[in-house]
Amino acid sequence: MRAQRVAEEFAKLYGSAPDGVWSAPGRVNLIGEHTDYNDGFVMPFALPQATLAAVARRTDGLLRLHSADIGGGAAGGVVELPLDRLAPGTDKDWTAYPAGVVWALREAGHPVTGADIHLSSTVPPGAGLSSSAALEVVTALALDDLHDLRLPRRQLALLCRHAENVYVGAPTGIMDQTASACCTEGHALFLDTRDLARKQIPFDLAAEGMRLLVVDTRVEHAHSDGEYGRRRAGCEKGAALLGVEALRDVPRAGLDVALARLGDDEEVRRLVRHVVTENGRVERVAALLESGCAAAIGPVLTEGHASLRDDFRVSCPELDLVVDTALAAGALGARMTGGGFGGSAIVLVRTADTATITKAVEEAFATANLTPPRVFEAAPSAGARRVSRSAWSGCTP
Ligand code: GLA
Repeated sequence: MRAQRVAEEFAKLYGSAPDGVWSAPGRVNLIGEHTDYNDGFVMPFALPQATLAAVARRTDGLLRLHSADIGGGAAGGVVELPLDRLAPGTDKDWTAYPAGVVWALREAGHPVTGADIHLSSTVPPGAGLSSSAALEVVTALALDDLHDLRLPRRQLALLCRHAENVYVGAPTGIMDQTASACCTEGHALFLDTRDLARKQIPFDLAAEGMRLLVVDTRVEHAHSDGEYGRRRAGCEKGAALLGVEALRDVPRAGLDVALARLGDDEEVRRLVRHVVTENGRVERVAALLESGCAAAIGPVLTEGHASLRDDFRVSCPELDLVVDTALAAGALGARMTGGGFGGSAIVLVRTADTATITKAVEEAFATANLTPPRVFEAAPSAGARRVSRSAWSGCTP
């Protein structure tokens, strides 16, 4: 079992058993892209791929970090960070995510006294599947448990976003952390990012003869590199010009009037049009799923892709190739998922068409001389949880 293996690795590294093992998943977003920092709607679900953390509490003000996948720094791969020296912008690699969470918890006044942490992840980094949020949420949940903080999940998600925004310096919204912390198996999560109200919507495609495929284009993306921040700033400019708190406040019925008021600022008009129509698409997908019409969400997903490609301009040739090829091969709908500029697409297929559509996408990538994509089925899985109290019960080496 994975939890047992991670606990054993912890014991080899740190010389004693961990206090427990925690897990936090990556996510795909079904619909609702670039809406979360506009106070809008999103609908992610958790992936089976998750980050595991074996953790032991310390009381001496030291944070020790190691990752089985990403490799550590000095001191035999274990990175040592004194808690009182944690400061935004100081850690430049993967350690910034767990360190940022510890910093955010302490900054909020929670008495975190230190920890030894060993991480192991099956969420591919840079694939737009929220490997960063998984890393943050698993750290937050473990520390919450071990320091008996009992923070509500939404609070943990907010602290993780604060860590990512301030400590790491990526201006992301609240979707990914909430998805990792709050999703439940067999459901998509309808989230209103203004008040963080959540609704779990049953999402069982297999029962209706369909599957959702994730296609990782292997084009790596990052949210701290400027383009994401520029889109966000453009949306904020649009809200300011329209005199609303956030673009969420522009109703779908008032879109034409709003666009006319923006005059010839074509850049901002496109951003506003995407956000307003995308919020509408989330509501449409929610209504279709709730009335048992899952197959009918396909065209709404595809419409969302066109909006991200043409108006929001965050797609890339590889994502467009997945979408176009899958649709031509008979997919019910397809779109990029996550922040864009690379990463992954999702493809809704009838179960019987899975192999044909997968092959068509793989062949299109081969023909275009691209790195072969990674294709897998995404079943809505559990959110973050403790997977073991003390999974490792063998002898300390
Ligand atoms: C990234 C961010 C999220 C969200 C999406 C786009 O995944 O982390 O907050 O903005 O992009 O929907």
